Amino acid sequence: MATLMDVKTSFVVVLLHCFLSLATLFCIFAFARGNPNVPCKVREREALLTFKQGLRDRSNRLSSWIGEECCMWRGIGCDNITAHVIQLNLRNNLYDEFAGDEALEQSQLRGVISDSLFELKHLHYLDLSGNNFTHAHIPSFFGGLQNLRYLNLSFAGFVGTIPHQLANLSNLHTLGIGGFSLQVDNLEWLSHLSLLKFLDLSYVNLSKASNWLQVMNMLPSLSELHLSSCELDKYDHVPYVNFSSLTLLDLSSNNFVYSTFNWMNSLTSLVTLDLSYNLIQIPLTVVHNMSCLRNLDLSRNNFSSTALNLFYNITTLERLGLAYNNIRGVLPRALGSLSRLTHLDLSLNHLDGKIPRFLGNFCNLQLLSLFMNNLGGGVHEVLGNSSACISKNLEFLDLGGNRLSGTLPDELGKYQKLSVLFLDGNLLSGPIPMSIGNLSSLRTLFVSSNQLNGTIPESLGHLSNLEQFSISDNLFEGSVSDVLFSNLTKLKILYASSTNLLTLRVSSNCQLRTLIMNSCRLGPRFPAWLQSQKDLRALYLSNASISDVIPSWFWSLSPQFEWLDLSQNQIHGSIPNFSSAYSIDLSSNNFFGPLPHIFSSSIRYLDLSNNSFHGSLSPLVCEQKDKMRYVQVLDFSKNLLSGELPDCWMNYSDLRMLILGSNKLTGNIPSSLGSLSALELLSLKRNNLSGDLPMSLQNCKGLVTLDLSENHLSSGLYIWLGNSSASLRVLVLRSNRFHGSIPQEYCHFNLLQIIDLSHNKLSGFIPQCFGNLSAMVRQVSGETFRTTEIILIMKGAEYEYSQSLSLVTSMDLSSNNLIGEIPEELTSLYGIRFLNLSHNQLHGKIPEKISNMTLLESLDVSTNQLKGVIPQSMASLTFLNYLNLSHNHFFGRIPSGTQLQSFSAQSFIGNHDLCGPPLTPSCVGDDSSLEPTPNVDDEGDENGNRGPSLNEAILKVRS
Ligand SMILES: *[C@@H]1O[C@H](CO)[C@@H](O)[C@H](O)[C@H]1NC(C)=O
Ligand SMILES: *[C@@H]1O[C@H](CO)[C@@H](O)[C@H](O)[C@H]1NC(C)=O
Ligand SMILES: *[C@@H]1O[C@H](CO)[C@@H](O)[C@H](O)[C@H]1NC(C)=O
Ligand SMILES: *[C@@H]1O[C@H](CO)[C@@H](O)[C@H](O)[C@H]1NC(C)=O
Repeated sequence: MATLMDVKTSFVVVLLHCFLSLATLFCIFAFARGNPNVPCKVREREALLTFKQGLRDRSNRLSSWIGEECCMWRGIGCDNITAHVIQLNLRNNLYDEFAGDEALEQSQLRGVISDSLFELKHLHYLDLSGNNFTHAHIPSFFGGLQNLRYLNLSFAGFVGTIPHQLANLSNLHTLGIGGFSLQVDNLEWLSHLSLLKFLDLSYVNLSKASNWLQVMNMLPSLSELHLSSCELDKYDHVPYVNFSSLTLLDLSSNNFVYSTFNWMNSLTSLVTLDLSYNLIQIPLTVVHNMSCLRNLDLSRNNFSSTALNLFYNITTLERLGLAYNNIRGVLPRALGSLSRLTHLDLSLNHLDGKIPRFLGNFCNLQLLSLFMNNLGGGVHEVLGNSSACISKNLEFLDLGGNRLSGTLPDELGKYQKLSVLFLDGNLLSGPIPMSIGNLSSLRTLFVSSNQLNGTIPESLGHLSNLEQFSISDNLFEGSVSDVLFSNLTKLKILYASSTNLLTLRVSSNCQLRTLIMNSCRLGPRFPAWLQSQKDLRALYLSNASISDVIPSWFWSLSPQFEWLDLSQNQIHGSIPNFSSAYSIDLSSNNFFGPLPHIFSSSIRYLDLSNNSFHGSLSPLVCEQKDKMRYVQVLDFSKNLLSGELPDCWMNYSDLRMLILGSNKLTGNIPSSLGSLSALELLSLKRNNLSGDLPMSLQNCKGLVTLDLSENHLSSGLYIWLGNSSASLRVLVLRSNRFHGSIPQEYCHFNLLQIIDLSHNKLSGFIPQCFGNLSAMVRQVSGETFRTTEIILIMKGAEYEYSQSLSLVTSMDLSSNNLIGEIPEELTSLYGIRFLNLSHNQLHGKIPEKISNMTLLESLDVSTNQLKGVIPQSMASLTFLNYLNLSHNHFFGRIPSGTQLQSFSAQSFIGNHDLCGPPLTPSCVGDDSSLEPTPNVDDEGDENGNRGPSLNEAILKVRS
C-alpha cells in the first residue's frame, strides 16, 4: 500500500507540476528555418563548429551539423533576410514521458561550452536546457549576447553563482535558469531586465537574496514567476507591491509561513497561485468567522485580518495550489468566493470535518485534490448531490487517503468528463455502482483500500478509455470474466492485490503492462491466462498460493519483464537461464537446481533467497559479471550453495547489498570484496567460512551493516574498520573464532547501534571509550536504513529483526574471555536497550550509575566474577524486563521496589550471599536495618588489598 501511495503521490505531483510550470516555457516558441537562398555566415558557421567540437554528443543529435548551410542544421534558425543565426535550440526535453531514463541521459549533450558562441551576436533565442554540462558555471559571456530575447538554461547541469553579466540582456522577455546547485549572492542584476515577462529560477538557492521581492517588483511586465524550491522564507519589506501583470506565481516548495504573504492582495490579475509544499499554517476556520478574529491575538505571528482574507479576494484566481502545508480545520465558506477556480489542490494537509456542500457550486472546477487529509462524512454528500454543477467539468478528482465513509452514489455516473478518479484509502463500503459505466472518459480509477463489496459491475467493461485500475484491498467477490476486460483495450495497469474472494481473468484484448496481484488466491496452478499477456513489464504475484512448476511459456515471456515478483509461493522446479531487467524476486519458494544465468545488463535487483538452489556461485557471479555489472542488490541467502566464495567482485561497482547468509559456503573471504566501494550491507552469516578477514574490506567505506556471524573466522579484530567505516551501524561477528582484544578504534563508529561480538575468543578489557558510541548515547530515532534480517540473541532468545531494526540499540560481548571491570563510561550509553556481558571473566562491581541507562530492557552479566552489592539505583530501571545477574559473587540485599522483585529467583541464583526477595533467604536483621550488612566488606574491596571474598573463596575451592 505504501508503495502504491508513493506512486500515486508522485503521479499527482508531476501532474500538477506540469499544469503549473511547463506549458508556457516549452510550448510557445516555434522555430524558423533559414532562407535557403541566403548563405550562412562563415564566421558564425565556424563558431558553431567550434562549439560542437567541445560537446560530447552520444546520441548524434548534431549529425546534421556538416556542410556549408548552417541555417539548415538541426536546432539552428537564421534570419530570413540577413541569414544571421538568430536561434540556437538544443533543448533536451526532460519531461518526455515516453522516453526512458537511459534514453534521456543518452540524448543529453555534455562537455564544455566554447566561448566561440560569443560570435553569434544576432542570437535572439538560446535554449540549452535539459542537457548536462556537468559542474560548469554559466558562461558570463552570455551577458554579451545582447539581442537575446529568450534564454533557457534550466536543468543543464550548471553550478555556482549565476553571473551578474546577464544584467546586460536588456531585451530579454523570457529567462529560465532553474537548476540544482545554482545560487545567487544577490538579485540586483535582474532588475535591469525590465522587459521580462517570464522568469523561472526554480531550484536556484535564493536564500541570500532577501531583496527578491523588491527586485521582482521592478519588472513591470512580469507575467509568470516560477520560484519553486528556492529556499525562500522571507523578503525585505516592500512599501508598495505592484504586480499588476502577474498571472502565475509559483512559490511552491519553499519555507514560507503564512505571515509572509500579506503583499498578495495586490495580485489583481493572478490566475495561478501555487504555494504547495511550504510551512503555511492557516487555521482556515478563523477566516470562516471574522467576529472571532478580533478576539484573537495573532500579532506576534504578524498575521493581520487582511492577510487571513487574502486568497478569497483574489477573485481572478483559477488555479490555487496549497498542497502539503499545515492547513488545519474545516474548509471555510469564504473559499466559495473563488468561483472561477478551475484547479484546487489542498492535498496533504490536515483538513477535517466534512467536505462542504458549497464545493458543489464550483462549476468551472476541473481539478480537485483533497488527497491525504482527515476529511470524514459520507461520500454521497459530495458526489451524491444531483443538482451540483461541479459534475459538469471535473476531470480530476482525488479524495484518496481520507476517512470518507458510506456507499458510492449512483450520481457518480454524472461526472461525464472525469478522467482521473482516486477514492482509495477511505472507509467506503457497499458495491461499485452500475453507473460507473457512464464515465466514458475515465482513464484512471483507484478504489483500493476500502471496504467495498459485492461483485464488480459489468458496466465497468464499457470504460474503454481505462488505462489504470486499482481494486486492491477490498471485499469484492464473485468472478470477473475475461469478457468484462474485452473492451478495455487501453488498460495497462491493474492492481488487484488482497482480493481473495474474487477470481479474475484478463482477456487477451487487453494487454497489460503492469499486473499486481499479491496476496490473492490464484493457485495452486500457475495462472494459465497469463499466457495471453504478451506485453507484461511488471508482474507481482507474491503470496498467491501457487504451488506448481512454472510453465515453459512463461520463461519465453521473460525478456520483456522489468519487474518480476513471484516470492512467497511454493513454486518448485529449476529455473532456466533467462533474460529480464531491473528487478527479480523469486524468494521464498521451492526452486532448486543451480543458480540461473541472467542475460540482461539491466538487472539491478536479484533476490533468490530462501529456496533450495545448490552448487557454486562462480558460474553466475564470475562468468556473468559483465551482464550483472550494474546490479545493486544480490540476495542468495537461505539456499544450499556450496564451494568457495568467488573472488571476482572487481566489476560490481554499483553493488549495495550482498546477502549470502545461511548457505554452505567454505574457504576464505576473498579480498576482491574490498572493491565493492558502494557496498552498504554485507551478510555472510551462517556459512562455513574460515581464515582471516581481508584488509581490503577497509575500502568499503559506506558499509552500514556487516554480519559475519556463525562462521569459523579466526583473525584478530584488526583496526581495519575503525577509521574507515564511519557509516557502520550494525556489526555482528557472533560465534566465530575471533581473538585478541577489542580494538579502541571501534569507538569511532559513531553511528553504531548494534554490536555483537559474542561467542568468540576475545580477551583483554572492554574499551572505556565504548561510552562514546554516540548512536547509543542518543535515543535512536525511527529513521530507517537498509538492512536484511539480523538475528540478535536477546533476553535469552533469538530475535529476527528487519524493519524495526532501526529502533534497536544493543551491545553483546558475551561468551568471550574479557577481563577487568565493567567500565563506568559504559553507563553513559543512555540510548542502549540490550546489554549482554555474560560468560566472561569480568570482576569488580556493577557501576552505580547503571540507572543512567534508562531505556535498558535487557541486562545480562551472568557468569562472571562480579561482586559487591547490587546498586539500589537499579530499582529505577523501569523498562527492564530481562535481568540475569546469576553466577557471580554479589552479596547483600536485593534492592527493594517493585522492579527487581518482579524477576524470578533464576535472575539471582549462584550468588551465595544475596538475600531478600525474590530469593528465599531473608536478610539477616531484616526488620531492624535498611542498610545491607556487608557494606563494610564492599568498601574494603575497593582498595583491592583484601583477600578474596567469601564467595570467591568458595568458588576456588569448588573448581
Ligand atoms: C521572414 O520573412 C517573411 C516575409 O518575407 C516575414 O513575414 C517573416 O516574419 C520573416 N521572419 C521569419 C522568422 O519567418
Ligand atoms: C477584500 O475585499 C473586501 C471587499 O471588497 C475589502 O474590504 C478588503 O479590504 C479586501 N481584503 C484585502 C486583503 O484586500
Ligand atoms: C456489503 O457490506 C455491507 C455492510 O457494509 C452489508 O450490509 C452488505 O450485505 C454487503 N454486501 C454483500 C453483497 O456482501
Ligand atoms: C463492448 O463494447 C460494445 C460496443 O460499445 C458494447 O456493445 C459491449 O456491450 C461492450 N462489452 C462489454 C463486455 O462491456
